[in-house]
Amino acid sequence: MNQASNYKAYDIDYHITEIYDQIETQTEDISLIKDLIGVNRSLRILEPFCGNGWILVPLAQDGHEIVGIDKSAPMLESARDKIRKLPQNVRNNIILHQANVLTHEWPQDFDLVILGGNCLYELATPEEQEKCVSLARNTLKANGYLYLDNNHMEGDLNPEWRKSAILENTFPTGVCSDGTQVRVTTQTIWYDAENRLTRSRRTVEIITPNGNTLKKEWIEGCHAPSTFEMKAWLSKYGFNIENIWGDRNKSPYTDDSPQAVFWAKLVKKLGTA
Ligand SMILES: C[S@@+](CC[C@H](N)C(=O)[O-])C[C@H]1O[C@@H](n2cnc3c(N)ncnc32)[C@H](O)[C@@H]1O
Repeated sequence: MNQASNYKAYDIDYHITEIYDQIETQTEDISLIKDLIGVNRSLRILEPFCGNGWILVPLAQDGHEIVGIDKSAPMLESARDKIRKLPQNVRNNIILHQANVLTHEWPQDFDLVILGGNCLYELATPEEQEKCVSLARNTLKANGYLYLDNNHMEGDLNPEWRKSAILENTFPTGVCSDGTQVRVTTQTIWYDAENRLTRSRRTVEIITPNGNTLKKEWIEGCHAPSTFEMKAWLSKYGFNIENIWGDRNKSPYTDDSPQAVFWAKLVKKLGTA
């Protein structure tokens, strides 16, 4: 079985980030987080997997102190581009760390941790995903909150994920403003249906207008978490689930919902009775 690396398309270069900026323009999650926080509050917020700052920047503009962690230099550079355009007092509220969230010590004493934007899909195993919930527990103040927002999969692996055909033009395929083309393919090369684990061969071709081509290929692992698993991790690490929704518009959750969006309070902090 080809071993998965934690290499990602986001790690390649700014062309990928530009396409990501073009595609990922939804704001429902930002509106939901703002609604959950409420008004006239200034929180200390941590966003692991912060990427291009899509969620982080609007929260900083609301006066919150934000720390973002991401391992992709191009994604963080995109975030910095957005931050440079902000007033100084808002810029002062933002700190970015380039690091792997699984190996880097998370800063401490936060009121809110955001595990949003389907970030658990960035990780190859349930152990890595569970670790993020435990790290959130460690970094939150007592009675702090966790916003966990991810697609979920109940039961065995979705048959669509098991197909071994090469899928052309998968995410983040697109065309940059300078005419550079980004072409991405994805092919499932291994799966474990019962444990909802996959390994995919991903290829990215970046073709500039003058025909220069950069090609990258790697094996990427993914575990599709179930709501049952995410609930178990939250409970194991001392969180009380105050709400769960089926999408970012607060629709009631069912196992057929597209997402599982949790708002959970840390009621059992490590070392407290
Ligand atoms: C889907 S993007 C989410 C970006 C942002 N939160 C959003 O909502 O637009 C996932 C991000 O996770 C980052 N990432 C993936 N694995 C990571 C890891 N192990 N450590 C740190 N960042 C990681 C990628 O670099 C990418 O920027």
